[in-house]
Amino acid sequence: MDIFELDKKYIAGTYNRFPVNLIYGLGSLVFDEMDRRYIDLTSGIGVTAFGHSDEEWTKAVITQINKLAHVSNLYYTNPDVKLAELLCKKTGMNKVFFSNSGAEANECAIKAARKYSAKKGEDCYTIMTLENSFHGRTLTTLAATGQEHYHELYTPLTPGFVYAETNMESVKSLAETTKIAGIMIECIQGEGGVNVLPADFVRELAEYTKENDIPLIIDEVQTGNGRTGQLYAYMNYKISPDIVTTAKGLGGGLPIGACLLSEKFADVFGYGDHGSTFGGNPIACAGAFSIISRLDDDFLADVKRKGVLVKSLLDGAKGVESVCGMGLMIGIKTTKPAGEVVKKCIEKGVLVLTAKDKVRLLPPLNINDDMLIEAINIIKEVCRE
Ligand SMILES: Cc1ncc(COP(=O)(O)O)c(C=O)c1O
Repeated sequence: MDIFELDKKYIAGTYNRFPVNLIYGLGSLVFDEMDRRYIDLTSGIGVTAFGHSDEEWTKAVITQINKLAHVSNLYYTNPDVKLAELLCKKTGMNKVFFSNSGAEANECAIKAARKYSAKKGEDCYTIMTLENSFHGRTLTTLAATGQEHYHELYTPLTPGFVYAETNMESVKSLAETTKIAGIMIECIQGEGGVNVLPADFVRELAEYTKENDIPLIIDEVQTGNGRTGQLYAYMNYKISPDIVTTAKGLGGGLPIGACLLSEKFADVFGYGDHGSTFGGNPIACAGAFSIISRLDDDFLADVKRKGVLVKSLLDGAKGVESVCGMGLMIGIKTTKPAGEVVKKCIEKGVLVLTAKDKVRLLPPLNINDDMLIEAINIIKEVCRE
C-alpha cells in the first residue's frame, strides 16, 4: 500500500488532505517524495514562523532535547520560566500559563475570566465572542466559536457563550440581558476569512470592557508572534488587553500554547486551579524562546513591508477581486473559487490556504523577496487563467 492508502486506512478521516506527501523542508520550501519543490505560503497554518529546518530554532530544540525533554510541572525548569519572562518583558503582561495548543490557551483564558468574574455573582459566567470567530475545537472553544456550522454535530456544547455582531450596539445589547464574564475577540478573524476588525470598534470595545470591569481576551493564536508586523496584533490597535492567548507561530513547529495574564489577572489562579502535563515542556519552550527573541522592531518592520509588497503585487491583478489582511496574514478574494485556486497552485508548486471564500497566505515571516514574488506571480497566473 502506498502512503495515501495507508493514511486512508489508519488515520481518522477528519482531514481532506491534498495528494502531496511532504518529506522535508528548507526555509520557505518543502519537498515531496518525488523531490518536487513547493514554495510554502502556509507555514503549517501559521506555525513555522522562521520556515523549515531553521538553524537557530533547530539548534535550540536539539540542545534542549539532549539536556532534558520532560520532567512535569512538579519541578522548576529553565526554559518555561525564561520564555515567560521574555513574553512578559516584550508585552508588559505579568504572568503566563503554558499549554500545548491554541484551543487550550483559550480554555485557560475562559477559566481565568470566569474565575475573575465570579465576584459579580454565580450567574456571571457567560463569555461573549463575535459572530464569524474561531477559537478552537474542544467543546468549550467550539462553543466560543461564533460559527454555527462548527456546532452542529456536537451539541450540547459548554453553556455560557453569546455571539455579538462586530459593532458596539450589538455588544451592549447582549450585555444588557446577560451578565458577561469576559469578551474574547480575534483582531483579525483568521478562519473567518481574514477579516480585519475596524480600529474604532476594537478601541471602543477595549474602553467599554475597562469601564465595566469585564475581562478583555484577545485570541492571538493565528495573529500573534509577528504575523501582522507587530509582536501581537492587538498592538496595531494600541489597546491593553487583560488576557492574551497565543500558540501556532510561538512554537515555530512544536506544539505550545500560552495564556498571558495582565497585572489584574496575574494571581487569578492559585495552586491546583489549572494544569497540564505537557504545558511548559522544556523543548517546546526552548524553541519558542528562539522565535520570540528574534522578533525585534527591524524584523517586524520587514514583515509589514513584505505584506505591503504582496498587496501591491496582487491589487488589480486579473481574477483578483480584493486583498485584505495585515503584515503576512493575507486574504485574497478571487474570481475563481478559492479551493480551485489552491489546487492549481499546488500543481504549479505553491502551497496556499483558504479561509472561507478567500485564498489565505501565511508565509514564513522570514521568506525572502525573490521567493515571495515568485510565488505571488504563480498565484496571479492561476487567478487569471
Ligand atoms: C484564532 C484561533 N484560535 C484558536 C485556534 C485553535 O488553535 P489549535 O488548533 O492550536 O487548538 C485557531 C486555529 O486555527 C485559531 O486560528
